[in-house]
This record gives sequence, structure tokens and C-alpha cells, in this order.
Amino acid sequence: MDDLDTVADEARTAITCAGDKQALEALRVDYLGKNGRLTALLKGLGKLPAAQRPAAGAVINECKREIQGLIETRKGQLEAEEMARQLAAQRIDVTLDGRGRGSGGIHPISRTIERVEDFFGGIGFETAEGPELEDDYHNFEALNIPAHHPARAMHDTFYIDSNILLRTHTSPVQVRVMASASPPIKIICPGRVYRCDSDITHTPMFHQVEGLLIDEENNFADLKGLIEDFLHAFFENQSLPVRFRPSYFPFTEPSAEVDIQCLNCGAEGCRVCGNSGWLEVMGCGMVHPRVLEMADIDPDRYTGFAFGMGVERLSMLRYGVNDLRIYFENDLRFLEQF
Ligand code: PHE
Repeated sequence: MDDLDTVADEARTAITCAGDKQALEALRVDYLGKNGRLTALLKGLGKLPAAQRPAAGAVINECKREIQGLIETRKGQLEAEEMARQLAAQRIDVTLDGRGRGSGGIHPISRTIERVEDFFGGIGFETAEGPELEDDYHNFEALNIPAHHPARAMHDTFYIDSNILLRTHTSPVQVRVMASASPPIKIICPGRVYRCDSDITHTPMFHQVEGLLIDEENNFADLKGLIEDFLHAFFENQSLPVRFRPSYFPFTEPSAEVDIQCLNCGAEGCRVCGNSGWLEVMGCGMVHPRVLEMADIDPDRYTGFAFGMGVERLSMLRYGVNDLRIYFENDLRFLEQF
């Protein structure tokens, strides 16, 4: 019992002084572990006369519990101290000024599409969308481009298999809308298109906006007036010269390509316009009667016109961007300007 008092006193002092959790754990092992000092005292009980064993055992066990409790308490203190130290070290001064994160910008492609949608939306055109993975029928066949038609060669198509492809233009959306709605139809279709083509002025993915109008009363003069109004609004220049050149698309007849006077040189001739004084901005024409027929629209009753423009090109011209590649680099220094 004298031994017990000495050991217990030592333990109390040591535990109160333990400076960290490892030291505390070492003390636990030292006193309460399998070969610990209090455990040794319990084992020594056998040497006592049988009559004294229960009382002595109870006292030792009581002492063990006390030491156990002291260790737990000290452990709690040490943990609280550590937490307080950590909190102090990681303190954040919420009153400090922020570092200033710049705000992003709307990508010039999105911005251009929004401008086109604003103009046409304002005169009753609705926006329609279609899948980027198309089938041969919608991308070609229903647009009067049968297999082996030479126009297919111009499309540089990415084929997924013999029937599925990445759409090469937004014109298949015309086909889908004509199949699901009946005239009058007034839609524009913005979206991504894909062609197996890549150089300084071509990227394998780019954007187009398609337009389609079908009703009982319209003609090429309406198309011409609408496109002129659009280009004047888009480039914010009411006297910008616009010209229509005869052209060919299998799905329109007659067809035209639309040029605006070169914004860079004002028709003098420069590098931007290849010395022609004009910049091509879109293709258009009256919807071919065969295309209407294939969509079950009566070509004797209805006529329509369609147009398609390249968004990157319009955007570059509008914002004076001279390198197509920066549209795809996501450099914030470029994007922040919009
Ligand atoms: N789909 C044509 C192209 O990608 C553009 C176009 C659309 C022409 C509608 C006429 C009518 O080149």
C-alpha cells in the first residue's frame, strides 16, 4: 500500500506535467499498460494473505480509475490547447481587402449570336436548334444533295459511320423544323458546325446562323431587303453597301452570295478583302421546290427563302479581330474585352 501511494503520487505529477499527447500516451503505458506499474501491483496481490486481497484490490482498482481519469482530462486539455494554437496560427483577417478577381466576359461568338437573335427575334423569328450529330438524310438528302452530288465534296464531312456525321452546316435544322411545323415558318438556327478543314482561316468546328422563312407571299426582293436591313443593323451603318452575287446551292434556287463593302479599306482594295473591295458574309436563296416537296410542303402554295452565315466571320468583321485562332484559346486578356 505504501508502494501504491508513491506510484500514484508520481503518476499524478507526471500526468499534470505531460507536455503533449505522445508523452501522455507513454505515461499511460508506463502505469496502466500490460506491464505497467499499477498493473504490477495488482499482480502482486497474490502475495497478500487471502483475507486482505479484496480490500487491497479495490483500493488499487480505485487508484487505476483515478489515474485513467486524470489522463483523459489532461488529454482533453492538450487537445484544446492544440486547437487554440491552430486557430491562432490560421487566423484570417476578414477585414483585409480582397485580391480582386476580374469578372469574365461574354465570348464574342455568343455575343454575335445574341446580336443576330436580337435583330431577327425583334421581327418575329423564333430560335430553333438541332443536333450536331446528324444523319445523311437531314444534312444532305433532304436538302437536295443526293449521294454522289458534287456539292458533297465541298463539305469536307466528318463521318461517324456511313450514315451518321457531324453536321457540316445548320441547314439540316431547316429540314427538321419543316418536318415538325407547318407554314408560316420564321426561324433562325444558331449552332456549331464541323468541317474537316484546318488552317489560318478555317477551324474544324465553327458556328453558323441559319434563317428560314416560309409562307404564302414572299419573294427574292423580300429576302434582299431583309438581309440588307440586317447587315445595316449588325454593322451599325445604314449606308454600308451590300451586293448579291449569283451563286449555287442545291437547296435554293435562285441562290446568291452576299457581300458587304470591305470595312477595312472601303472598297479601295486591301489584304482583308483580297483586293476585291468586298467581303463575303453569307449564302442565301429561295428554298428549292424539291426541298419543300420532300418536307411535305406544297410548293405551289408556299414559297420561302433561307440564308446561312458564318458567326466567326461576322464577329471578326464586327469587332475588328484579325486572327481566327484567338477565338478558341480562351485567353482572358482577349475575352475580357467583350
Ligand atoms: N448551308 C450553306 C453553307 O453552309 C449556306 C446557306 C444556307 C445557303 C441557306 C443558302 C441558304 O454554305
